[in-house]
Amino acid sequence: MSVTPFTSDRDERPRSRELFRAELPFLSPGFQNVALLAELVLDRGEGRYLYDVDGHRYLDFMAGIGVCSLGYSHPAWVAAMTDQIRKLTVGSFATVNRGRFLRRLAEVAPGDLSQTMLYSGGAEAVEAAVRLAKSYTKKFEVLAFWGGFHGKTGGVLGLMGSTFKHGWGPLHPGLYLTPYAYCERCAFNLSYPGCGLHCLEFAREVIRLNTTGSLAAILVEPIQGTAGNVVPPPEFLPGVQEICREHGALLIADEMLTGFGRTGRLFGCEHDGVVPDVITIGKGMGSGFPVSGLISTPGIMRAEPYSKPSAASSSYGGNPLAGTAAWITLETLLNDNIVANAARVGDYLLRRLLELREKYPFIGRVQGKGLMIGVEFVRHRERDKTLLPGKVMEQVFKESLRRGLLSMNYTAQYRINPPLTLTEAEAEEGVGILDEVCAWLARQSHL
Ligand SMILES: Cc1ncc(COP(=O)(O)O)c(C=O)c1O
Repeated sequence: MSVTPFTSDRDERPRSRELFRAELPFLSPGFQNVALLAELVLDRGEGRYLYDVDGHRYLDFMAGIGVCSLGYSHPAWVAAMTDQIRKLTVGSFATVNRGRFLRRLAEVAPGDLSQTMLYSGGAEAVEAAVRLAKSYTKKFEVLAFWGGFHGKTGGVLGLMGSTFKHGWGPLHPGLYLTPYAYCERCAFNLSYPGCGLHCLEFAREVIRLNTTGSLAAILVEPIQGTAGNVVPPPEFLPGVQEICREHGALLIADEMLTGFGRTGRLFGCEHDGVVPDVITIGKGMGSGFPVSGLISTPGIMRAEPYSKPSAASSSYGGNPLAGTAAWITLETLLNDNIVANAARVGDYLLRRLLELREKYPFIGRVQGKGLMIGVEFVRHRERDKTLLPGKVMEQVFKESLRRGLLSMNYTAQYRINPPLTLTEAEAEEGVGILDEVCAWLARQSHL
C-alpha cells in the first residue's frame, strides 16, 4: 500500500525555529522536556488555543501541565490581574482580593478545612505540609507512593516514587514509599477487586517494618498525575485514611493537579468521600500565575513551630498578584459552572477515547475523571502491555504537533489535561487529530 506522507504548513516555522535556536545555547539543558521537543516559540494564547510566532494555531491538551484552568487570556482573569498590577504587586499585607479568596476557599473546601497558607511553587507547598504534619503530630516520618510526584526539592525528593531521583542521593531521612493502587500494572500481579486491595495491607507492613514507628503523615495524590493520570479504585483513598488514623498520622492529599475542578469536582478527594487533614494546592489554582499553598483545619494550623509568626511564610506567598489570581480563578470556576463543564466534557472525551481504543490495539489503559485522562500506549493491549519506547512516542508527539495538537503524548503514559473550559467541539477536534496520529502510528512497522 502506498502512503501519502502527511504534510503540514506547521512544518514551516521559520521564525519559531530561528528564535528557538538562538535561545538554546543559553538555556540549561535540564529544561522541561515538552518545550525542548516542541521547538515552538509561542506568541499568545486564546481560550484553548496557542499561537506561535509564525501564526500557526495549536489546540492545547496540556494547559501548561494542568495549570491554565480557565484557558488563555480569560477576560475576567486578564481584567482582574491588570487592575491589580496597576495598584499593587508586592508584599504580604492583606489585600481585598486575597481576603476574598481565602474566605471563598474556606466555604467550598471539604469538611472544616478553612485556613490556608500560600506559597509560589508545588514542591514548596508539599514541603510545608510535611513541616505542618511534624509540628502537629510531633513525629517525623512520612509515607508516600510508588509513581507519586510531589516536586524536586530536597525535602520531598525522597517521596517521589520514580527513578527521577536517581543520582541525587542521599535523600532526606524518614521518607518511605509503598506501591500505589495502579491496578493496570499491579505491583503484586493481582487483579482488582479480587485483590482485596492488598496494596493497603502491604502499606501497613511497610509502616510496621520499615519505619521507626513515628509516622507523621501519609502523602497521596487522589489520582496520580505524573505517573499517567492513574485512577485508583474508590476504596483506596478511604483505606489510606484509615491507616493514617491507626497511626495518629495526618492524611495529606496532594491536589496540586486534582484540585480546583480538574476532575469534575472541586477537589479530587470529594469523589471518594474523604476529607483529608491537609490538602496541598497549586497549578490550576491561579490559572497560570505561580501560586500554591496548603489548606487545613484551624486545630492543625495552630501547631507549633509551624504557626509561629513568620515560621511558615515565604517572600512571594500570597502577594497581591497571587491573591488576585487565586480569587478570580476560583470565582470564575464557580460562577461560570466550569467544574461542571470539566465533568461533562471530560465524560465525552473519555468516551471518545475509549472508542478510539477499539480501533488500535496499541492503546491500552484509558482512564480518567473530568479533564484528567490517562491513555497508555503499549505493544499490544492483550498480548504485551510493555509501554512503547520514548523514541516512538516522541514521534507521536511531533506528528500531533504538525496536525495542530499540543499534548503530552511524548511518553507512553500519556496524560490529557486541557483547560477546564474545553468545549465538546474542541474535544472532538483533538480526538480527530489523535485518530489521524494513531493511524499514522499503525503504519509505522519499522518503529
Ligand atoms: C501532584 C504534584 N505535586 C507537586 C508538584 C510539584 O510542583 P512544582 O513543579 O510547582 O514544584 C507537582 C508538579 O507536577 C505535582 O504534579
